[in-house]
Amino acid sequence: MSALAARADDGSHWGPMLERPLTNMATTHSWPHRHLLGIDGLSAADVGVVLERAETYLQLSRQREKKSATLRGRTLINLFLEDSTRTRGSFELAGKRLGADVVNVSSSGTSAAKGETLLDTARNLDAMRADIVVVRHGASGAPHMLAEHTGASVVNAGDGQHEHPTQALLDAFTIHRAKGKLAGLRVAICGDIYHSRVARSNALLLGLMKADVVLCGPRTMLPRDANVLGPTVTVTHRLAEAIEGADVVMMLRIQKERLGKAMMSTAREYSRTFGLGPRVLAAMKPDAIVMHPGPINRGVELEPTVADGPRSVVLDQVEAGVAVRMAVLDLVGNDGPGVMRREDAPASRSKGKRA
Ligand code: NCD
Repeated sequence: MSALAARADDGSHWGPMLERPLTNMATTHSWPHRHLLGIDGLSAADVGVVLERAETYLQLSRQREKKSATLRGRTLINLFLEDSTRTRGSFELAGKRLGADVVNVSSSGTSAAKGETLLDTARNLDAMRADIVVVRHGASGAPHMLAEHTGASVVNAGDGQHEHPTQALLDAFTIHRAKGKLAGLRVAICGDIYHSRVARSNALLLGLMKADVVLCGPRTMLPRDANVLGPTVTVTHRLAEAIEGADVVMMLRIQKERLGKAMMSTAREYSRTFGLGPRVLAAMKPDAIVMHPGPINRGVELEPTVADGPRSVVLDQVEAGVAVRMAVLDLVGNDGPGVMRREDAPASRSKGKRA
């Protein structure tokens, strides 16, 4: 069922529950990870568990009483050392809806801004007995480093140009709800692939779930080896080719803050060649959906009429973000290995790596 039809049916933003469960494996598969550092390292069954549990939390989030006690008594620290609106807000809401004590730490006004090393930050978080640390960092690999040096479960909320696993999971959740499946779909991801951790995590996850991925962008915004970013990736420099037959078209932001001047001539020229406006929309499959992780550069990669139009599931992605992050926090906080031992660990545990 298309997102459009689903919405018309029950008047809500989302459609009714899908008839088909995500995977049959997921119900019997137990979550084996203490951290979520990337899609790299997850199995299709792991993804299935996250998406299934997210469905429960989506329903909970739609109720008047949105709280569960899943993480009651636990401390969640959101360490955001790079700008964020949606991701930070949704991790905060997710933690609160699960009953955790949530502390938000951002880059300005923290010791990181005064030159504290990530290792020292990790030791301090440990001394505060954080149970889960969600980290966004400008350096690729920062969450992995934190995971090595803290007893907490670490969730990667975006590290440099590397990975953004919860974004890929919420995108998969959104696609699955709109299309009823992931396997066999054709997903076009267009824009600044080179700088995009969203593209990397999506290429891995969609490949894992047997969807075909087409990466599209100007030569300067595609890594030379873009075809190895995921097991089902093909590459094109032509938007018309990317969208042809696509079930999903995911537009990415031009990352101005990471771009050198030479990479993009003018925003207008870019939008003429790679922007998604009504003309391109008309050439897409009639039931294809339009996605964007946000923040949108309106009028550059996405025309406002398309961003706000009936084919756009951008706000569905935002809603899914809270539900999927609740699922991830619940899984690493309650199901992951080492969780039960944590409460018994001595306060000095920061000196050693815990199993
Ligand atoms: C993305 C990110 O930070 O990587 N945004 C997000 O998490 N919603 C994409 C972007 O910044 O363009």
